[in-house]
Amino acid sequence: MLSTVLRKILVTCALPYANGPIHIGHMLEHIQADIWVRYQRMRGHEVWFVSADDAHGTAIMLKSENLGISSNQLIKNIRREHQRDFINFKISYDNYYSTHSIENLYLLRKIFSSLNTNGLIQKKIISQFYDNIKNIFLPDRFIKGTCPLCKSRDQYGDNCEICSSTYDPIDLINPISVISGTKPILKDTEHLYFNLPLLSDFLKKWIHSGVLENSVIKKTKEWFQKGLKPWGISRDAPYFGFKIPGFPNKYFYVWLDAPIGYISAFKNLCLKNKKLNFNSLWHKKSNYELYHFIGKDIIYFHTLFWPAILEAVYLRKPNGIFVHGYLTMNGLKLSKSRGMLITANDWLKCFDSDSLRYYYASKLSNNINDIEMDLEHFITKINSDIVNKLVNLASRNAYFINKYFNGYLSNELSDDKLYQYFINSSSKIEDCFENREFSTVIRESMRLIDIANQYINEKKPWKIEVKEENMNKLQKICTMGINLFRIVMIFLKPILPDLANKTELFLISNLVWQSIKKPLLSHKINKFKPLYTRISFEKISQLMNLYR
Ligand code: MSP
Ligand code: ZN
Repeated sequence: MLSTVLRKILVTCALPYANGPIHIGHMLEHIQADIWVRYQRMRGHEVWFVSADDAHGTAIMLKSENLGISSNQLIKNIRREHQRDFINFKISYDNYYSTHSIENLYLLRKIFSSLNTNGLIQKKIISQFYDNIKNIFLPDRFIKGTCPLCKSRDQYGDNCEICSSTYDPIDLINPISVISGTKPILKDTEHLYFNLPLLSDFLKKWIHSGVLENSVIKKTKEWFQKGLKPWGISRDAPYFGFKIPGFPNKYFYVWLDAPIGYISAFKNLCLKNKKLNFNSLWHKKSNYELYHFIGKDIIYFHTLFWPAILEAVYLRKPNGIFVHGYLTMNGLKLSKSRGMLITANDWLKCFDSDSLRYYYASKLSNNINDIEMDLEHFITKINSDIVNKLVNLASRNAYFINKYFNGYLSNELSDDKLYQYFINSSSKIEDCFENREFSTVIRESMRLIDIANQYINEKKPWKIEVKEENMNKLQKICTMGINLFRIVMIFLKPILPDLANKTELFLISNLVWQSIKKPLLSHKINKFKPLYTRISFEKISQLMNLYR
């Protein structure tokens, strides 16, 4: 009897900006979430997985201007590329939508009007930097100057990457507009604010309700200690986004409509899938679980503003915000200006997607530590784990099964106790998947594969003399080897979808979690074809050449 309660879950990834390609830093998040989603689906739970392009904001408007195309055309092109990349990396989205959609406009207006009715929106006139050449108010990211605290030069308008302090752009020393390179002037402008401090009692409780890891609670509390401030949710024209009704020449700030994109991506999915009910997921007493995977740079949007808005408009809150660190290369965060920005598409010109998924999994746990991509270590790891250990176990045993037994596995295993030991390890693997301790899943799987290879080394099927009375023994040993391989491949299926697929064709049997306990016996397998090929170190220079 299956005793586990079946869960209903919605999982999201942060919405990538529609102003550039998906790089392998973004991919860390989508792979992490996809592994979790695939695992939950394998356990029989109902899981919906959505994301979207974050299609609004000044950066997108300026980029399309530079390219000489409309913003609409730009976000269309980019979305197509993003979708292609996610498909190529086997990210199993049920819907990959866009925030520039009617659903999002509808929900944004509804939520805004509800905030307004509940007295949570205020108007205020403020002084902001304005670029007199380009005639545009400057978002923080488009102002650079010297950090008022540590005096480091070339820092953005909102925070210093050297001393990590945050400040008002007005406090920057020698501010410069990134757009025109000129010194901006201060100009008065009226804006809308969401009264965040009114929700501080709710937030204090929510933060400690088990939805956040300790390191994330710590970060969130830092903002609390600085004191919550009303949050500006409007922007001046010119802007690419949604207009604010009754407030001429003003647009909703992209960060207001972006998280609403989580809801609208699901709403759009409901149109395509009649089985789904929109309200049953988003109302306050929903029996769906909701999880957001995000990077550590956008914690406060997801642990302060987002839950506060949901609470203010009587919608359900997430059950967890799963935060990861940055992908770094040579210690640098991947970004346009600093670390090398390897695109997902270029990655696939040199390597496959399973290899990246495996490497990330081997480094991922449920904390916010950064993850270093070291290409030499990457290749060594893949060749040693996947080729030398995992696939080798299958190939050396399949050889005998194919050669002497017409592809048929024996009706018995050679060591039931060892098989039971592998079965028993599944509960630890299950806990690790559930808690996003993927590095432990990999370590544990490789420990098991080592044990299996060790077993075959001891039994030495290649030394068994091929004669009538030995054949039963030989078949049982190799059946054992194939079945131990199969168990570990079931464990690794959420991480390695391509290899799992090939393995299923080879075994002529699906890798199903519930079937771990039942070994494949008296079963025909296919002729063994190499399941994975060694990666050559030359691939590193091939990849580097794309960036010279
Ligand atoms: N558009 C916003 C998110 C809105 S969510 C309602 C955004 N976009 S982003 O394209 O800059 O980043 C998308 C996600 O990718 C974020 O979670 C971010 O942390 C993650 N990453 C971007 N660069 C990354 C690395 N170098 N490493 C790991 N994750 C990275 O923020
Ligand atoms: Zn500084």
